[in-house]
Order: sequence, then structure tokens, then C-alpha cells
Amino acid sequence: MTASLPRIFSGVQPTGNLHLGNYLGALRNWVKLQHDHECLFCVVDMHAITVRQEPAELHRATLEVAAAMVACGIDAEKHIVFNQSAVPGHAQLAWIFNCVARIGWLNRMTQFKEKAGKDRENASVGLYAYPNLMAADVLLYKATRVPVGEDQKQHLELANDIAQKFNHDFGRSVFPMIEPLILGPAARVMSLRDGTKKMSKSDASDQSRINLTDDADAIALKVRRAKTDPEPLPSEEAGLDGRPEARNLVGIYAALTDMHHAAVLAEHGGKPFSAFKAALTDLLVASLSPIAAEMRRLVGDPGAVEAILRRGAERARALAAPVLAEVEETVGFVRV
Ligand code: TRP
Repeated sequence: MTASLPRIFSGVQPTGNLHLGNYLGALRNWVKLQHDHECLFCVVDMHAITVRQEPAELHRATLEVAAAMVACGIDAEKHIVFNQSAVPGHAQLAWIFNCVARIGWLNRMTQFKEKAGKDRENASVGLYAYPNLMAADVLLYKATRVPVGEDQKQHLELANDIAQKFNHDFGRSVFPMIEPLILGPAARVMSLRDGTKKMSKSDASDQSRINLTDDADAIALKVRRAKTDPEPLPSEEAGLDGRPEARNLVGIYAALTDMHHAAVLAEHGGKPFSAFKAALTDLLVASLSPIAAEMRRLVGDPGAVEAILRRGAERARALAAPVLAEVEETVGFVRV
């Protein structure tokens, strides 16, 4: 790796199935960023257990997410692909950050409020402290660029608050500021059953999402059944207003072809949805089937995926060691 390139850190939780939204919203962008950055891509298994996980499923999903990263085109030779729990520095730095972050700061986190719901008393302490661990993920490597969706922006602002307070309290500029790379609405993929809801791995209906492991028949069926309205496709972008399902399908087509919505509509506007859906199916199958095939190959060879993670964790530990030493020395810990 070339040390002079800006360093990126990002993470995905190993929960549920990876879908088209994860691909267009995250993985595909990471693949593009790897050309001019030094990257660490992490399967955040410690974040996953902030809510209850079935151990066998967590194990399976961790290997599957790592396989997906590689299948989507992340170069695990050049960059670092690893699982969070394999590098103890994440937990070590997170503890120190637990002592830097203020309770009042965490109380403002909207994701905690949403995830904890009405029964806050019964949420895990880990779910509450989740943003501190996320700050540790990035700052353990002094990474300065973090590609995330809009929903994670508040967590990164908190990470910057932690970095600033740490630097200020100890009078040393140990941590750099993080620049969030917020991935635009082009990457926002909605449910196939409800164009106002995000495509989600936790949606009860599998028909609502296209999984990265779906085969051509499954993709065709899901697109055919995707919710639409009775009008044909509009020829201009303004015609998508108030039609969230139409907008979503056009958006997926646009993202996969790197076209603007207007250009997609210029080509397909006026056609009935059935015709547009057929074109979209062909495009999805062409884009996703090589990924699905590579994922199936890797999932069928867990030893190979474990070898990638082992090598990634070794390299991550080596990058983390001097930062952790600097932090411990700054805090006043005796290092024996
Ligand atoms: N919280 C992120 C999510 O749910 C995942 C994540 C954990 C992450 N640690 C990170 C993302 C560090 C970016 C950087 O999407």
C-alpha cells in the first residue's frame, strides 16, 4: 500500500442478507474509492451484537459479507478486509472513548432513539455506546475519510467531537478530523413493495428486496411483482413526482447504467411498465449475476474467506499498534 494516499475506513454489519441497496449504496462506491485511497473495509461484528444475534447466523453472515466485498470487486490484496472482533484495539480504544464522550452527546443520537424504541430501559448498554465504538473504528487507524449513508452522518459528527475533546483534554493533537463522504441520493434504493421505505435487510417480505445472491429467476419474479402505478413511464423527470415506486425503478436503472434519470426517461418514457421492467431485469441480471456467482463460490469455500480475514486482521493490527501505543501513553497507562 502507498502510505501517501488518504486513508478510508468503512464498515458493514453482518446482519441479514446483503441486497441491491447495500451494493448501490455502499459496496459499489467502495470499489471506486479503492483506486485513489488506502482502504480498510471492516465487517463490524461487534456492532452487530448490540442487538441480539443468533451465533450461527452471525458467523455465517460475517463470512458472507466478507465474500460479498471481494465478489463486488474490492481488492483484498491491496486493501484490508477484516472483521472487527479480530482486532482487539477496537474494543480498547472504544473503552477510552466511553470515558471521553458525554452522556448528553449520546442522548442526542437519533439512531439510538429509533432502535431502542419505547423500551429504552431494556436496550443494551452496547447499543447506547455504539457511536463510541464507531469512532474508535475509524480513529484507531487515523483514517480521515469515511464513506457512509446519510443515516450515519450524526455518528461521524460525534466521532469528531470525541477526537476534538480527546485532543483538547490531553493537550496533544493525536487524532485527525474525519471527513464524511456522504453517498448521494443516487445510491438510495427503496423497497420494491413500498417506494417510500428504504430497501432493508430486516423487511419481513423477501419480495421487497433483491438480494446479492438472488438468481436470474428470482430477480425476474421480484421485478415483475414490484409495485407500480397504472400510468406508463413518464418521459420527463417531473413526471416522477408523487410516484415513489416509478422513481425507485428508474433510479435503480439510472444507478446501474450511470445515467441521469432524465436520460433513462428519454429512452424509456411512454412505455408501459411491463416493458421497462423487462429491460430493468436484463440489466440487473447482467450486473448482479457475476457477483452472485463469485459470492456462491466464496461462500462454498469458507477457508478461503477466513484466510482473507486473517491476513486483513494481521495487517490492521499492525496499523493500529502505533496509534494505540500513542493513545495509551497520552492517557497515562503504563505499557509493560
Ligand atoms: N454504523 C455503520 C452502519 O450501520 C457501520 C459502521 C460501524 C461504520 N463502524 C463504522 C461505518 C465505521 C463507517 C465507519 O452502517
